[in-house]
Amino acid sequence: MNVLVTAGPTREPIDPVRFVSNRSTGKMGFAVAQAAAEAGHAVTLIAGPVTLDTPPGVRRVDVTTALEMLAAVERELPACDVFVSAAAVADWRPETCSPTKLKKGEMDGVLRLVRNPDILKTILPRKGTRVFVGFAAETGEPTAEAGRKLHEKGLDLIVANDVTAPGAGFAVETNRVTLLFPDGRHEALPLLRKTEVARRLVATFATLGR
Ligand code: PMT
Repeated sequence: MNVLVTAGPTREPIDPVRFVSNRSTGKMGFAVAQAAAEAGHAVTLIAGPVTLDTPPGVRRVDVTTALEMLAAVERELPACDVFVSAAAVADWRPETCSPTKLKKGEMDGVLRLVRNPDILKTILPRKGTRVFVGFAAETGEPTAEAGRKLHEKGLDLIVANDVTAPGAGFAVETNRVTLLFPDGRHEALPLLRKTEVARRLVATFATLGR
């Protein structure tokens, strides 16, 4: 299958030296790309600004902002059978980006933000027979909110993680996730290395949709 994965944060510039972003390192999404390639799939990885090496055999497209990630996803979507949205897309971006470094005196302490598009919701009308997999980064018990996102974003599977749980979420080598399906089925996995979470996810999505 052709598998498209997004990973990492997006970075929303304020000026040439400052930005709004989040704590994603890309480890989880890169692990999914690697596991999918190792399972024999053709993988395209759309990566936000991260410092990770490209997994062997994976085609990588680098982006910075949410708008760039959306454009890359829209470009790559027609060729994919499975889309895994592991990126932590910034929900907001500064209303304007100054072409020059803002001086302290030019800033009044208020940063005006505008909403970024939701990538999954934007491409949902073009889903067709593709399998869509999302992640839900929650603080606290993740399944209720993840279940809402699963339905709202038209997903076939959502991977819920409590990003405040020890050893889970951002920047660590492990994750503790629950897989949620549209029929209400839940599968809670133990604390595992992200590489192993990724292997199980790839084995699961390969059974969906076809
Ligand atoms: O990168 P790591 O350091 O390894 O950390 C891993 C992780 C915590 C980033 C990862 O496991 C994870 O949870 N990724 C999703 C983070 C997120 O944005 O969650 P969300 O609940 O805000 O979004 C839900 C889904 O909608 C996600 O699939 C997201 O990619 C997608 N989304 C979100 C916002 C947006 N504007 N467009 C989207 O498509």
